[in-house]
Amino acid sequence: MAHGCWRPALALVLVLLGTYAQAPSSRHMDDFIEAVRRVEAGALGSGPLAVLRRLRGAAGLDDAFVRHFLGNVSDVPRLDASLSGYLRAAVRHRVTEDGREEGVALTPDGTTVALAPLLLGIEAGFLARAAGRARGLYQLTLARAPDGAALLGPDGCWDSVASPRVFTLLGGPSAALTAARVNGGVDGVVLGTEVSAEGRRPLLLSGLLAEYYARRPESAGADAAPRLLGRRRRENFGGLVAPPALARQVVKAAALRRRLTGRSKMAAEEKKQLAASATEAMKEFVRQYVDCPPIIPRCMWGARPYRGTPTNLTLPLSFMFIHHTSTPGDPCLTFERCAADMRSMQRFHQEDRGWDDIGYSFVAGSDGYIYEGRGWLWQGAHTLGHNSVGYGVSFIGDYGAAVPSQHSMGLVRDRLASCAVGGGRLVSDFVLQGHRQVVSTSCPGDALYEEIRGWEHYGEVKKGK
Ligand SMILES: *[C@@H]1O[C@H](CO)[C@@H](O)[C@H](O)[C@H]1NC(C)=O
Ligand SMILES: *[C@@H]1O[C@H](CO)[C@@H](O)[C@H](O)[C@H]1NC(C)=O
Repeated sequence: MAHGCWRPALALVLVLLGTYAQAPSSRHMDDFIEAVRRVEAGALGSGPLAVLRRLRGAAGLDDAFVRHFLGNVSDVPRLDASLSGYLRAAVRHRVTEDGREEGVALTPDGTTVALAPLLLGIEAGFLARAAGRARGLYQLTLARAPDGAALLGPDGCWDSVASPRVFTLLGGPSAALTAARVNGGVDGVVLGTEVSAEGRRPLLLSGLLAEYYARRPESAGADAAPRLLGRRRRENFGGLVAPPALARQVVKAAALRRRLTGRSKMAAEEKKQLAASATEAMKEFVRQYVDCPPIIPRCMWGARPYRGTPTNLTLPLSFMFIHHTSTPGDPCLTFERCAADMRSMQRFHQEDRGWDDIGYSFVAGSDGYIYEGRGWLWQGAHTLGHNSVGYGVSFIGDYGAAVPSQHSMGLVRDRLASCAVGGGRLVSDFVLQGHRQVVSTSCPGDALYEEIRGWEHYGEVKKGK
């Protein structure tokens, strides 16, 4: 804490003692940002680079690979024990044998990011601004792929969304790039690129993070949201990165790691093989993290279990049926609201309707996310008589008089659809229809129905098989 500036420092210490008798211990991004503010309070007058170096020192992110690009942090001032203990636990990334992922934080929009690649990307960006030359942005964030493992790993679930502490991977331990590592790496690239441009960004790291992982809902919904937002990570990243360049960075990172650990240089043949497999893996990476929309898994919205045994779909399907929820009648603009809407619909479908589960395959919020209902593999209960031949996708809200946000419609029309085709879940010439075309109902509302009649794949009434 601020040495050398006694009276303000004393006041600050008293305030901090009152507010933070203990270091925060939840793994929520809000708590991490508070900890960053404490580091900043102890580094008054120095810029974000000094703060990032202190964070890196406390977290122990100082191996040869990181030093190669960012320099060592052996000279940074030490933080107080409880703060540095918190930072070490919060930032150090590892997957335990029982499948818990550490070093990750839950953001207010319901996604999870690994903090190390996020911080390294931002530091590389600030360093580039200072040195006039970007070095290692991609290698420090995304291209440092794990040795000899499948490239892409699973997403996971928190023990509690209100007070997150333990993050467990779906499908057990994995050495591969987990969803949280990709999210953190993507955010590190996006923010690192942003801060590397002279004069573009606020000079407090905490401010940058708080703005990017904004807690407040945008009153006008997703369409009015600023460009630089965690919720927009896929769009922003897609505009920045060329997959072949990223594949080359993977090869460079592997060669550098070899060199730094004193092993023999990578032979040309080995490099060629690695380049080929990185290029192949990049296709799946782009499909999963750039083409597909971000999908909030069931566990994150607090789904109750499916009742009984799900019926498996036979893929690929031929139809996508568009619905609106009608009740809830308002679009949801935040993760908390959309998740609560999902729970209330599931309760209604299971208890009042007597179904096994929420009826829809997927549900579109107006918060920038798609929510997993029955998902890609289980047959839904959405479009009577047609549930085995199509996915049912519903927009939260009532769209009799107005259409959903342009952003949420884009997620379904462009991304969910092409993601489904690319993943072999829908045939490439699938037909998109409104619920009312096959069942006597006003769903998906007059306004939304008029809208989807202009969408690619829209088809006039053709009864399902
Ligand atoms: C850390 O970096 C500084 C400045 O580049 C250098 O003088 C110092 O020797 C380095 N320390 C270690 C332990 O590598
Ligand atoms: C449905 O698919 C899952 C794997 O996705 C499988 O374990 C299960 O046995 C299948 N059920 C039936 C009835 O085929």
